[in-house]
Amino acid sequence: MSAALTVSDLSLAIGGAKILDGINLEVSRHETLGIIGPNGAGKTSLFNLLSGLLAPTRGTIHLGATDITQFSPFNRAKAGIARTFQTSSVFNNLTLLENVRIAAQANLGRSMNLTRNAYTFKEAVELAHQSLEQLGLKGRENQVAGSLSHGDKRRLEIAIILASKAEIILLDEPMAGLSVEHVPELVEIIRSLVAVHEKTVLIVEHHMDVILGLADRIAVLNYGELVVCDSPDKVIANPAVQSAYLGVGL
Ligand SMILES: Nc1ncnc2c1ncn2[C@@H]1O[C@H](COP(=O)(O)OP(=O)(O)O)[C@@H](O)[C@H]1O
Ligand SMILES: [Mg+2]
Repeated sequence: MSAALTVSDLSLAIGGAKILDGINLEVSRHETLGIIGPNGAGKTSLFNLLSGLLAPTRGTIHLGATDITQFSPFNRAKAGIARTFQTSSVFNNLTLLENVRIAAQANLGRSMNLTRNAYTFKEAVELAHQSLEQLGLKGRENQVAGSLSHGDKRRLEIAIILASKAEIILLDEPMAGLSVEHVPELVEIIRSLVAVHEKTVLIVEHHMDVILGLADRIAVLNYGELVVCDSPDKVIANPAVQSAYLGVGL
């Protein structure tokens, strides 16, 4: 069986500067891959390449057996890669239900015009209600998204992802800006993406306890290079990792 996501020799140079250099990674289905590294290591750039916001200078990205290196961000989303925690993924003036319904509608592969097809509309509404309920947002469907707290907005973003039926979920510092007491709650939600919803998760996070609690394997980036990708125990014990990163973080 092919990996869920395969990155081969992926490289990015901007204006002569090497941002990422020769990254090779295989992510299995239903795996949680933690990605760590110092600021500027290239973690967000890697997500930008995976989601199609940036084109690589070299290398390929496969989703299953499909080469998606040349796919637009829209087509990657359709193929099953979703990215969260960008404010653009939530429409503040729309209700929670509308936000999730639009994602569901897009997933059902029909027009984004929600009034056009009664049957699809009904399906999308059902899927949206289901996703909101799974994220503990039942009863708040008609509230506008802009009124949500930070933590609840992240729940909404995950509800949107569930409704979109994406297989691979990229989380870039999901805990950022969240007050400490809300961290365990979001960790459990992220865990459920794999455990309950059978997603494949790539998570960039500075909180080492979060990464250690969630990740099956950890990839360490430093100066645009992949230092190591291995089990949490082996990564922590790796001398190159300790000098590059963990010496500061742990
Ligand atoms: N669009 C860009 N143009 C030029 N340099 C960039 C651009 N995006 C990122 N960089 C540089 O690439 C490096 C990696 O950045 P980034 O991927 O954001 O790192 P991380 O997410 O690991 O902190 C940094 O040195 C950053 O300044
Ligand atoms: Mg970043």
